[in-house]
Amino acid sequence: MSPVAQRKLLATVLGDRQDRPPVWIMRQAGRYLPEYRETRKQAGTFLDLCYTPELAVEVTMQPLRRFDLDAAILFSDILVIPDALGQSVRFEVGEGPILEPLDVAGIDRLDRSRALEHLQPVLETVRRLRAALPMDKTLIGFCGAPWTVATYMLNGRGSSDQWTARRFALEHPEAFDKLIDILVETSIDYLAAQFEAGADVVQLFESWALNLDETSFGRQVIEPNRRIVEGLRKRIPNAPIIGFPRGAAGNLERFARITGVNALGIDYSTPRDFVTANLPRTLPVQGNLDPLRLVVGGEGMEKEVRQIIEAWSDRPHIFNLGHGIVPDTPIAHVERLIELVKRG
Ligand code: CP3
Repeated sequence: MSPVAQRKLLATVLGDRQDRPPVWIMRQAGRYLPEYRETRKQAGTFLDLCYTPELAVEVTMQPLRRFDLDAAILFSDILVIPDALGQSVRFEVGEGPILEPLDVAGIDRLDRSRALEHLQPVLETVRRLRAALPMDKTLIGFCGAPWTVATYMLNGRGSSDQWTARRFALEHPEAFDKLIDILVETSIDYLAAQFEAGADVVQLFESWALNLDETSFGRQVIEPNRRIVEGLRKRIPNAPIIGFPRGAAGNLERFARITGVNALGIDYSTPRDFVTANLPRTLPVQGNLDPLRLVVGGEGMEKEVRQIIEAWSDRPHIFNLGHGIVPDTPIAHVERLIELVKRG
């Protein structure tokens, strides 16, 4: 049997509806799992964990040992790209990522020439994962989409309004475009290498697609994602790609149509009726449970899960959260969620 016939999640991304939705969970490897916290202690820094194939394979596999998930997602981070380009990146416990913020001169100093070499340990993790995974599990690779990665590179840390990066894009259009070009090209190289190493599907995490006007959304979100899809498909024909423009709201249909992604991640604030009314029924969707519903669990969660499955029962659907799982999530609730999706 071909990989597509065996891997339900991959088949769904390619447009083939399954008898029940395949399921994975955004950020499924992480701090809500005690075994992750244990491995994390052995690793030194968070980036050491990302760059040590043996440990990265271990944490990628941990959620699959507990739950009947249909996919593994490579363990890494969207900020390995700035690190590979020579920007200083560190992760502080309780504070999240901290980067040396880029200015116009800093953009000129970024060095793309050795980025892929720097990312070799991550590609080795992908190779080991494909060899270790059962045939029916889809292996998902990923990178951050350029705008989202640029928000961290320009501001130096996460922010709720992306003010620094939005202002920089308007005030320094040439430098900003240069940064986006570097990120587009590096992402194409990196994702092509992930496919060559054994990834079945990749997801472009555009986690900060909110707070942008129509023009900026086109320039900063749609166009870079479109260029990655186009560039990647030149290297890997028909590469299966999931787009996840979190917060795209009224720009969702335009994003899907212009970028040409195979499937679309739907965040939890997007009404399901809106998807039905605005996105072609052949377009596979993934989502959209609020991660807080999974924290609280119980009847409220179960009702919502059933509604999601029902709402998208007439199109290819991958069950997932509408954003990443949070550290407070009880493991028993995840078990219940998977059981519900798989057995009703
Ligand atoms: O199972 C998986 O999905 C693990 C792989 C993964 C991580 N980060 C590991 C991680 C993936 C796919 C990501 C994506 C990521 N990283 C995104 C996009 C998804 C989203 O949630 O919006 C973003 C914006 C980042 C940047 C990032 N990395 C932040 C803001 C933080 C700190 C906040 C947090 O969740 O801790 C990280 C750190 C990080 N990345 C951790 C993990 C498991 C926790 C760090 C630790 O264990 O010390």
